[in-house]
Amino acid sequence: QKFDVCILGATGLVGKTIMEILEERKFPINKLYPLASARSAGEIIEFNGESIEVLNAGEFDFSQAQIGFFSAGGSTSAKFAPIAAEAGCIVIDNTSEFRYDADIPLVVPEVNPGALAEYRNRNIIANPNCSTIQMMVALKPIYDSVGINRVNVCTYQSVSGGGKESMDELAKQTANLLSGKPVESKNFSRQIAFNVIPQIDVFLDNGYTKEEMKMVWETKKILGDENVLVNPTAVRVPVFYGHGESLHIETNSPISAEEVKDLLEQAPGVVVCRNDEDFPTQIGDASGKDDTFVGRIREDISHNCGINMWIVADNVRKGAATNSVQIAELLAKDHLS
Ligand code: A2P
Repeated sequence: QKFDVCILGATGLVGKTIMEILEERKFPINKLYPLASARSAGEIIEFNGESIEVLNAGEFDFSQAQIGFFSAGGSTSAKFAPIAAEAGCIVIDNTSEFRYDADIPLVVPEVNPGALAEYRNRNIIANPNCSTIQMMVALKPIYDSVGINRVNVCTYQSVSGGGKESMDELAKQTANLLSGKPVESKNFSRQIAFNVIPQIDVFLDNGYTKEEMKMVWETKKILGDENVLVNPTAVRVPVFYGHGESLHIETNSPISAEEVKDLLEQAPGVVVCRNDEDFPTQIGDASGKDDTFVGRIREDISHNCGINMWIVADNVRKGAATNSVQIAELLAKDHLS
């Protein structure tokens, strides 16, 4: 069986990567409809060796597609997802617009594939935040084995998480600074080149940023456990692709670093870097890959049920596009055939 598929945000960073991954993984597509705003309607994109015209989302009849990948920002999803869903197009949404609605499944295929069946409630499935996805892939086997009480996490997130304009800003600031020219900051609250910014998304009343609270809310929802405590600090670093995360986990009963390595070696989607000096980084390990890389696994010398680890994944791929395509594969296999 083949599917008619639309991509909302087809000219954007995540939308383009979704199309690449659909090609790579040979997702069974009959007809592909790339959608964007009126600004880019008429542009030509290449897919599976064919040239296809980008259409204006506002004029598209969503009943033509069975599956829609939405990656054009929260307000665009808020406007178009209900229309598409109503027309029978199952929406896989990359924005945070529907993630916290109780009747919308929030899915990481390696972690909670069973939740997918709830797509029938509203014909919408939410893809989690990039930082949450890679953390979930690495934590699930430990959670299942010994239970997790609390996670302290600090992220080192690349600029691609903010879309193409954020990447352009890092490149331009870097070039300007190296040639002695002034810099301008538009997408970040401070200069991002040669700097580190402890703010992603807006500040909320409790002093955390929204990006940090996404990790708190989404972890509880994906694990189906309101008692898991998450204490995050989300930081933007001048890296183009790939998010790093430093985790301090407090388990319900003690587990050794060796046992964690053994568990993670069996886990789908995880690559374990067993030796200390083989720790993964964005460049050379995670960037351009679909796996989540885990290294620096060690026992916490300050806590008898503590494990520390360093997690890296490609935020545009596993953190967004790959996870969405994996959701579509699961949907096609378990629900649409
Ligand atoms: P467009 O190229 O027409 O602006 P990125 O995350 O890389 O910044 O990309 C955002 C994506 O979302 C682009 O494909 C962009 O299309 C699309 N987009 C933004 N606003 C809208 C809108 N109001 N309607 C449809 N697509 C939109």
